[in-house]
Amino acid sequence: MAKLIDRFGREVTYLRMSVTDRCDFRCVYCMSEDMTFLPKEQVLTLEELAFIGETFVDLGVKKIRLTGGEPLVRHNVQQLFRHLGALENLDELTFTTNGSHLSQYATELKESGVKRINISLDSLKADRFKELTRIGKLEKVLEGIDSAIANGFDRIKLNAVILSGRNDDEVLSLLRYALGRGLDISYIEEMPLGAITEHNRGEAFCSSQALRDIISEEFELIPTSENTGGPSRYWRVPGYDSRVGFISPHSENFCDTCNRVRLTVEGRLLLCLGNEHSIDLRSVVRAYPGDKEKLTEAIMQGMEIKPERHYFELENEPQILRFMNTTGG
Ligand code: 5AD
Ligand code: SF4
Repeated sequence: MAKLIDRFGREVTYLRMSVTDRCDFRCVYCMSEDMTFLPKEQVLTLEELAFIGETFVDLGVKKIRLTGGEPLVRHNVQQLFRHLGALENLDELTFTTNGSHLSQYATELKESGVKRINISLDSLKADRFKELTRIGKLEKVLEGIDSAIANGFDRIKLNAVILSGRNDDEVLSLLRYALGRGLDISYIEEMPLGAITEHNRGEAFCSSQALRDIISEEFELIPTSENTGGPSRYWRVPGYDSRVGFISPHSENFCDTCNRVRLTVEGRLLLCLGNEHSIDLRSVVRAYPGDKEKLTEAIMQGMEIKPERHYFELENEPQILRFMNTTGG
């Protein structure tokens, strides 16, 4: 079977697809307060998304993550989950969600073959949660997490973006919450994607090492070499089932083991989160509907331009003008 191998010998086995740029939250690190969203014609249809996903699986992709925006706000997105979940050669179908609609969809998603979920949770204080998401109701999200647990997904992971002076005092309470429920948790360093004015990203920076220092005051952290196919590096707390991950785009560059590419909601195949190198797959699937050969050719071209690494800088932001919601976080 054909494989996707880039110029640096890295094999691409992981595709992240943004299925909508829309979201019912406006997290301060992800969006500006007044976002304009894309007109429908510019967004890939569910059929186009399914076709592209399927072609990637033919090319050796083993893991697909659906992201947004918030994937569950896209009308009929379950159809895409079912299509991808039925692909024989796909080992893992997963998605990232803000949790606000999860209680409604958890059972159906489990049935379509999703085994793992990532849920964003930056605070356990209702007023602060509202402030960080500008809209979100903590209660709804906690309900969503409970129903995910009740539906018996193999692994549920919480993602917490930690900002200095905003929620860095909740590192331990978020960990206790995860440990108590057998959930994994990853702490994320904020990335400079999109221009925001709500806070200064340099000042809000919290390094993963600083978080591990905080955690070590209460829990023993044992490093592991576990890998779930993403950028998290994992630690374990003795006596618990949870993995404690850190995504450290600034402090611990992870590009040498990069195995992934992203598809934006407009069908741009992004070869790296921190660079603009891309291939327009939408024009290919619209010019040659259903033609896997043409699409494969375009994807292969992408392998020739996948950059070696990202260079995020906190001081001269933003270098990357697109926001995470169109990129697929
Ligand atoms: N930096 C780091 N993480 C981000 N996310 C969204 N925007 C950013 C950013 N600028 C995270 C969300 C969510 C996932 C989709 O990406 O918190 O967990
Ligand atoms: Fe929505 Fe996720 Fe962005 Fe928050 S981080 S605004 S939940 S897409």
